[in-house]
Amino acid sequence: MYNDLQEKPNVKQIVILASGSGSNAEKIITHFKEQQTAKVAAVFTNKNTAQVLERSKRLKVPAYYFNRESFVGTDQLLRIIQSLEPDLIVLAGFLWKIPESFIRAFPNQIINIHPALLPKYGGKGMYGSKVHEAVKESGETETGITIHYVNENYDEGAVIFQAKTELTPEDTPESIAKKVHELEYEHFPKVIEKLLT
Ligand code: GAR
Repeated sequence: MYNDLQEKPNVKQIVILASGSGSNAEKIITHFKEQQTAKVAAVFTNKNTAQVLERSKRLKVPAYYFNRESFVGTDQLLRIIQSLEPDLIVLAGFLWKIPESFIRAFPNQIINIHPALLPKYGGKGMYGSKVHEAVKESGETETGITIHYVNENYDEGAVIFQAKTELTPEDTPESIAKKVHELEYEHFPKVIEKLLT
């Protein structure tokens, strides 16, 4: 029997970094509250008004804001995250580039979700609605999600998983975003679970 103060043995620890709404973070948190094979130990955000802070609070997961200096100017955030001994760091709508110090400290332990089929529509400045607008503009007949390891370049790490959804000429950037989010909610928690087992 375990009480709240004791960790169950072998429960993998996940740390989430998010910059915005945090709807993916919420899906991951609730998935692992049910599965109990892993748990989200903490959520960190670089935006002090991000909705992910309220979501985390509601779901009783510790959530913290950090500034750029603590992330890239010093090892402050790295040390805090290291002290949590995460098995996996998950970028769920996190928009800053990950410093090399993190990549060295957590080799193949940082993953990102991108709302398109990489290598298309990736790179600096390609995030959220900007991606869906570009997909619409190009007249694509499909889009999707890519879950990949994080390396020192935006959206260039090895691909772990992709899933596709069809588009019609009637789709708008908003409806594309909705289709993509549905794919993310369906697959991201499961892919994380698989990586941790
Ligand atoms: C997600 O669609 C995610 O794929 C995207 O931001 C959204 C965050 O939504 N990430 C990127 O664009 C990274 N380049 P959420 O905050 O509701 O989870």
